[in-house]
Amino acid sequence: MAWGFSATVLLLLLLVVEGGGGVDCMEVVRSRRALQRKHHLRSRAESGATILELRHHSSGKKSREDEDDDVAGFLSSDAARVSSLQRRVAGWSTEEDDDKASVPVSSGARLRTLNYVAAVGLGGGGGDDATVIVDTASELTWVQCAPCASCHDQQDPLFDPASSPSYAVLPCNSSSCDALRLAAATGSPSCDASSSDSSCSYTLSYRDGSYSQGVLARDKLSLAGEVIDGFVFGCGTSNQGPFGGTSGLMGLGRSKLSLISQTMDQFGGFFSYCLPLKESGSSGSLVLGDDTTVYRNSTPIVYTSMVSDPLQGPFYFVNLTGIAVGGQEVESSGFSDGKVIVDSGTIITTLVPSVYNAVKAEFLSQFAEYPRAPGYSILDTCFNLTGFREVQIPSLKFVFDGNVEVEVDSSGVLFSSDSSQVCLALASLKSDYETSIIGNYQQKNLRVIFDTLGSQIGFAQETCDYI
Ligand SMILES: *[C@@H]1O[C@H](CO)[C@@H](O)[C@H](O)[C@H]1NC(C)=O
Ligand SMILES: *[C@@H]1O[C@H](CO)[C@@H](O)[C@H](O)[C@H]1NC(C)=O
Ligand SMILES: *[C@@H]1O[C@H](CO)[C@@H](O)[C@H](O)[C@H]1NC(C)=O
Repeated sequence: MAWGFSATVLLLLLLVVEGGGGVDCMEVVRSRRALQRKHHLRSRAESGATILELRHHSSGKKSREDEDDDVAGFLSSDAARVSSLQRRVAGWSTEEDDDKASVPVSSGARLRTLNYVAAVGLGGGGGDDATVIVDTASELTWVQCAPCASCHDQQDPLFDPASSPSYAVLPCNSSSCDALRLAAATGSPSCDASSSDSSCSYTLSYRDGSYSQGVLARDKLSLAGEVIDGFVFGCGTSNQGPFGGTSGLMGLGRSKLSLISQTMDQFGGFFSYCLPLKESGSSGSLVLGDDTTVYRNSTPIVYTSMVSDPLQGPFYFVNLTGIAVGGQEVESSGFSDGKVIVDSGTIITTLVPSVYNAVKAEFLSQFAEYPRAPGYSILDTCFNLTGFREVQIPSLKFVFDGNVEVEVDSSGVLFSSDSSQVCLALASLKSDYETSIIGNYQQKNLRVIFDTLGSQIGFAQETCDYI
C-alpha cells in the first residue's frame, strides 16, 4: 500500500535507534584513544565504480550531560548552517561583507556534527589516508597540513607536503586561484600582489569562529586506488574548530573546484551515496562513477530533474512539488516555486513556513492522540510519549517534479532526546522567500544519485551498508 501508515514501530526500538548518542548526527570525538579505536574505512574499485565506505563519526562512551549538550549544540549549529546556506543562495556577496568571520560557508560547529566521513589517500609519498567529512554543499576539499601553526586533533597522521614529491603550491596567477576568488562564498584567497610568484592563500571562515587557513595546492589524490593527478585542494596549516577528529572536508558540490568537477574524466560527474543509520556496525557508501549495478537498492531508481542555476555555486537543487503525511498529500502554495537544496551536510530538513505549517497541521491531526510536549531547539512539534508502549508513526513522503515519490525511512520521521520529548524531525525557515533544504536525517537508507551531466537526481530505497 503505497500511501499507508508505516508499520507500527515499538517506541522502545525507536529509542534504541535514536537514543544513546541522542541522534546519529553528533559524534564528538573526545580523545585520541577514542579515535584510535576507530574502524578503518574501506574502499575499492569495481568495474565502473569506485566505492568508498561512509560512516558516522563514532566516539567512545559519553556522559548523559555531554549527550544533552551535544544534541542542543547540533541542532543550533544546524540552524546556523541553514541560515548561512540561505545567505549564499540569496547571493549576498561576501565582498560587501568586510567581516571575514561571517563569510557564510557553513557553521564550523556543525562540522563536528556533520557525521558522514570517508577515507581518501593524498600525496605521492605513499598515499596516507585522510578521513574527511563528505559535504555536497562545499566546493573546495581541504585537509590539515604539516607544519601546523594550529591544528585540531585528528585521527590520521597529518599530511606532510614535504614527504610528497608530487606536491606543489599553486601560484596567485593560477586559474584555480581565480576560481576560488570567484567562488567568494567558498573562501577568500589572498595574494601578495607585489610578488608575481606568491602562493595562493585561502581562508575558510565559519560563523562560530572556527576556520581553515592555508595555501591552495595540488597533489595526487587516490580514491580506492584510482589516482587523480594534480588534484587541487586546500592545504590548511592553521585550522581551528570542532572538526571531530577528521583530517578535513571533501567538497562534492557542483562548482569548478569540487572533487566532482575535478574528476570529470574519471567519473563523469556521477556519484551517489547511501547514508547509514547510527547503530554501531552500520556503514554506507559513496560511489563515484555511473555504474548503478553495484547499488543494493530495493526499489527502482526514480529520477527528477535538477533545477539549474549557474549563479548558485555548489548547490544541488530539485523541485519539490508535494509532501504526503501518512498518505495524505498536504496543500500549500509554497510548492508552486518548489526549488529546494538536497544537502548531505544539513541534518534536519528545513522547509519554507507555508509548506512546514501545512505538514505540521497534517501531522498534528494524525498524531492527535498523543500529548504535546514543549518544542526542542529548532523543532516545534513535540510530544510526550512517556508511558506509551507503542506508537504509530505516520509515513512521510516527498514528491519531486516528474511525480517522483521518495518515502522517508521511518527513522527519519521523528527525533527524540528522550521519550518525554519526541519531535517531528522537520523545521521551519523564517520566510517563504528562503530556500528549503532536504537534510541528511531524511536521507537515511536511501540511495541518492547525483548525475551532474544529465542534470538529474535519483532516489531509491536501500538499506545502507558498505557494498
Ligand atoms: C604566473 O606567473 C609566473 C611568474 O611571473 C609566470 O612564469 C607564469 O607563466 C604565470 N602563469 C600564468 C598562468 O599566467
Ligand atoms: C516545479 O514544478 C512545478 C510543477 O511541475 C512547476 O510549475 C514549477 O515551475 C517548477 N519550478 C521550478 C523552479 O522548476
Ligand atoms: C510526560 O508524561 C508522563 C506520563 O504522563 C509524566 O509523568 C511526565 O511528567 C511528562 N513529562 C513532561 C516533561 O511533561
